[in-house]
Amino acid sequence: MKAIIITQPGGPEVLQIAERPTPIVKPGEVLIKVMAAGINRPDVAQRKGNYPPPPGAPVDIPGLEVAGIVTEIGSDVTRLKIGDKVCALVIGGGYAEYCTAPEGQCLPVPDNLSFAEAASLPETFFTVWSNVFDRGQLKPGESLLVHGGSSGIGVTAIQMATALGSEVYVTAGSDDKCKFCENLGAVKAINYNQENFSDAINKLTDGKGVDVILDMIGGDYTPLNIKCLATEGRLVHINSMKGKNVTIDLTEVMRKRINITGSMLRSRDVEFKSAIAQNLQTHIWPLLASGKIKPVIYKVFAADEAAEAHELMESSEHMGKIVLQFAK
Ligand SMILES: NC(=O)c1ccc[n+]([C@@H]2O[C@H](COP(=O)([O-])OP(=O)(O)OC[C@H]3O[C@@H](n4cnc5c(N)ncnc54)[C@H](OP(=O)(O)O)[C@@H]3O)[C@@H](O)[C@H]2O)c1
Repeated sequence: MKAIIITQPGGPEVLQIAERPTPIVKPGEVLIKVMAAGINRPDVAQRKGNYPPPPGAPVDIPGLEVAGIVTEIGSDVTRLKIGDKVCALVIGGGYAEYCTAPEGQCLPVPDNLSFAEAASLPETFFTVWSNVFDRGQLKPGESLLVHGGSSGIGVTAIQMATALGSEVYVTAGSDDKCKFCENLGAVKAINYNQENFSDAINKLTDGKGVDVILDMIGGDYTPLNIKCLATEGRLVHINSMKGKNVTIDLTEVMRKRINITGSMLRSRDVEFKSAIAQNLQTHIWPLLASGKIKPVIYKVFAADEAAEAHELMESSEHMGKIVLQFAK
């Protein structure tokens, strides 16, 4: 099969097309003919050599999410059959014509979505569910602040939390991005280049602060996050793009009884990821089918344009998801 491989750590140009053996299905897995694969920021980190694939993942083929058609089923597969249209969270190897996935990490492609749209869902939907609703315990009526509101993660968090009854605030780096986030449902988007987000949140919430913050920034954002969290607030980290070593005022943490947590999805086991898939199918897939939650795609590239797609992601010009199309 053809795959996009990382030839060596480096810039987007190290992504090249190569021939690789079609993966062999293991018990409990299906083989998917990949029609489209989503691109995520962790793929960029992997390409640069800063995010080694966990054990069991293909060493040089990136890609954490795919959509396509099941062409083979392994032993112990009980639910899926050949010909089913699925999208799947995968441990790696998504940038290829074929990819294996555990049955439990596959979800049906909703009838109203294309393969490219379905491929844009798994990584951010699993991550947001796991961190905002499981770890962060966001409840209807509570408020959420998401940094990077126009990122793939951001557009997912805005829509999911709004649909499930929360008020969502976001930060973003330009007025255009802010407008885009408010059009998706954010009650207020704060341009962090023009305003101190922490002061803005406290003003917008009459000094109460927000109940949950989904943070991918870290660094000097962390003390500011703590300043604008409500009493019993939860701060959930999914990355630390501005720095992993931070200084915080522990008195504030104790005074407000704040929980600080975080997680990394990729290295978690199949059972954990399958449990998230079940929750998504129950709570979120009906909202995709009804159109209340929509995939947000900024640009679809042909598979042999993976380098251009990574360049776009690194420019941070995009709003929403970037997808590679392998077949139609
Ligand atoms: N822990 C996990 O399991 C997990 C899983 C998936 C993703 N993630 C993380 O979630 C984040 C979003 O992923 P994605 O695929 O949605 O990425 P993405 O679409 O590329 O979005 C990243 C956004 O972050 C903002 N940004 C970039 N560098 C920044 C900086 N130095 N300071 C402040 N903001 C910055 C940019 O928005 P502005 O222009 O508005 O600044 C950009 O749009 C990534 O950090 C990724 O590693 C974690």
